[in-house]
Amino acid sequence: MNLLTWPVTALGWTSSLVQRAEASQARINEFLDQKTDIISRQNVQKELVGDIVFEHVSFTYPDTGIQALRDVSFRVRPGQTLAVIGNTGSGKSTIAALLCRLYDVTDGAIKVDGTDVRDYSLRALRGQIGYVPQDVFLFSDSIRNNINFGLDQPDEARMLQAAKDADVYQNILAFPEGFDTKVGERGITLSGGQKQRVSMARALVKEPKILILDDSLSAVDTKTENAILGSLQRIMAQRTSLIISHRVSSVKLADEILVLDDGVIVQHGTHEALMADATGLYRALYERQLQTEEA
Ligand SMILES: Nc1ncnc2c1ncn2[C@@H]1O[C@H](COP(=O)(O)OP(=O)(O)O)[C@@H](O)[C@H]1O
Ligand SMILES: [Mg+2]
Repeated sequence: MNLLTWPVTALGWTSSLVQRAEASQARINEFLDQKTDIISRQNVQKELVGDIVFEHVSFTYPDTGIQALRDVSFRVRPGQTLAVIGNTGSGKSTIAALLCRLYDVTDGAIKVDGTDVRDYSLRALRGQIGYVPQDVFLFSDSIRNNINFGLDQPDEARMLQAAKDADVYQNILAFPEGFDTKVGERGITLSGGQKQRVSMARALVKEPKILILDDSLSAVDTKTENAILGSLQRIMAQRTSLIISHRVSSVKLADEILVLDDGVIVQHGTHEALMADATGLYRALYERQLQTEEA
């Protein structure tokens, strides 16, 4: 549900924007009616540079009592890429959710450019974060409106570039009505990989200062994932990026890698450094995935 709430809250409450997005109005109303207990303490609005600091962050999901993160600390400097890897359930997506403030930390603090995320205006914070959630959400609407969703002023050139950068441009051109092709209930059905790339284009078109990819290419094969990540290098060079993946192949290019196990950081370093630790979890994940690929 939080994934669904996200793009709408990012939009703000302006009804004209909602109309322009032409998304299912009933569905939107449903989201807007959800009361959020995420409120801004200070309403800080500033342009982000993208310096991310997690300080002793612990988090327990309020509804289930599951502790997803325990004493997690790290820093990503502006323009750097941090990858987060770990088994399913290790807490990777929770890191992304907390950074976007879908939830607030139970203990510790998350700071962006020295300011606690709880002090930012939600709109200012989320508006500058390009978040590609693990579970893609597309509206039953045109591809154009899906990509431009959440933008105050859509721009054709930017949209085309975002689609190219997300490697979905050629696919879209091949559809009967190009960018005006409708997807979902009243339109065509996209493959899992195409949905993920449209979702990625939606994040890129915002030209965000912080880019978060949460297993965003899990539906494409490893080779395609690597090709897309390779072409994203240019974009990622200018922003702080968090790449969450369960695949070693897609995290090894990052400046630094965090290895999570059961909510705890068990390793932190470059691909080479982590590989050098013969008994570490990273090496074990690597070898396991190598075997799966060969099989
Ligand atoms: N919305 C949620 N409500 C309650 N528990 C959750 C929720 N999302 C994840 N969890 C739990 O938190 C832990 C970490 O999950 P998650 O961050 O999604 O891990 P990963 O992304 O590494 O697979 C898991 O035990 C998971 O079951
Ligand atoms: Mg996850």
